[in-house]
Amino acid sequence: MPETSPDDAPPGTAALAFPTDFLWGASTSAYQIEGATNEDGRGPSVWDTFCRMTGRVNHGHTGDIACDHYHRYGDDVRLMKDLGIGAYRFSLAWPRVLPRGRGVANQAGLDFYDRLIDTLLEAGIEPWATLFHWDLPQALDDLGGWTNRDSAGWFADYATIAARRFGDRVKHWATFNEFSVFTLFGYAFGWAPPSISDKAAHLKTIHHVNLAHGDATAVLRAHVPGAAIGAIHSVQPCRPSSDAPEDIAATALFNEHWNLCFPDAQILGTYPPQIGASIEPYVRAGDMARICQPMDWFGLNHYAPMYAKADPGMLWGFVFGALPENLPRTGVGWPIDPSAFEQTLKELTSRYRLPIYVTENGYGSQTQPAPNERAELDDQGRVAYLAGSIEAMHRALRDGAKVRGYFVWSLLDNFEWGAGYGDRFGIVFVDYATQERIPKASARWYAALIKSQKAPPNRPKR
Ligand code: FCB
Repeated sequence: MPETSPDDAPPGTAALAFPTDFLWGASTSAYQIEGATNEDGRGPSVWDTFCRMTGRVNHGHTGDIACDHYHRYGDDVRLMKDLGIGAYRFSLAWPRVLPRGRGVANQAGLDFYDRLIDTLLEAGIEPWATLFHWDLPQALDDLGGWTNRDSAGWFADYATIAARRFGDRVKHWATFNEFSVFTLFGYAFGWAPPSISDKAAHLKTIHHVNLAHGDATAVLRAHVPGAAIGAIHSVQPCRPSSDAPEDIAATALFNEHWNLCFPDAQILGTYPPQIGASIEPYVRAGDMARICQPMDWFGLNHYAPMYAKADPGMLWGFVFGALPENLPRTGVGWPIDPSAFEQTLKELTSRYRLPIYVTENGYGSQTQPAPNERAELDDQGRVAYLAGSIEAMHRALRDGAKVRGYFVWSLLDNFEWGAGYGDRFGIVFVDYATQERIPKASARWYAALIKSQKAPPNRPKR
């Protein structure tokens, strides 16, 4: 790869030259942006329920309106086109497609995604669909949700409907978003729906979600001609927050849970050692072959290294630990260490040997109280974070990491789960009172980067 710098590269990336077919995208998810939770036949999800539980989401915020993307998707696609974004990663809301999770599909819900996909294609933007970004239909949770082994079949049926309906136009599919995060937070820590903290429930969930991934992959393969199928994992180096032996041991188990037990099962066909021993009672003959399907790409969501410590009061004896004092932090307190990104890309390349798409990476800031919100428009902290990440990704690529694309999290400020609307990750500001969208400095910076990488002279195709 030549080290010649593109003429109009934005500050911080002047020396970078990515391959001309490197994909530059933006990510969102259904519950975080769509709103219209009670419209056109959508059924309730576990997040609708959770948001209504007192004290679970900051300020009692809900996804009821969010960014009103359900009605404003046309504007949002135009915005992406203006920024030069080449691919858009979004998720389908299972409860919009199947209001009760199973049974008869909701035509109005399917129609919405048809409109979105067609609008993207007309704008020259590649649609990348994720089947599950945490909004499990409440009716399925009432049947035990992921703790019920039947969940793999429910998910495969939903995947079949989606593949048949959209597979003529959508070729890039991901089964799940961040397996480890929603399972750990929902079934072990109890911090997200369904707010459970139980070892058997958590282990069953891990295994059933893996089965669901495998079955859905087979469905997509069968129904989508030319499909490029991946799964999206949160992978962050796990470091002990002290040298104490108990913190080191707790971190090893934390790492198995956070980073290994989903991709290892799905790509290598095995569980990591400690989880493997405890999950055995739930694994039946033939399961590992069902889970381990050929995959086309690895979706990496990366934000920051994580620090863990022992805590005997927690379900698995580990919890998040203190961060080193000397690491800079984002506006939501996450450590900034681009070398962790470079390390992760290299390690994933050698462990799983799949092309990697960075399906999320971004910077959170807090702009509460409201009068300070517009300060967010000149988001130099986010610009610096993105530049640092993209440089780290470039170093990894230069050293042989198989990274093929990058999606910024997120296109828009949106509903940030338990943090509500106070945490903003968008490169585009959303004024929630008026739903006005205003590109931040980071959006202009990203657009300039993309432009600078488009077919500059002497750039090889990979
Ligand atoms: C990831 C989630 C995404 C968003 C970002 C900040 O863990 O996949 O929905 O919340 O974090």
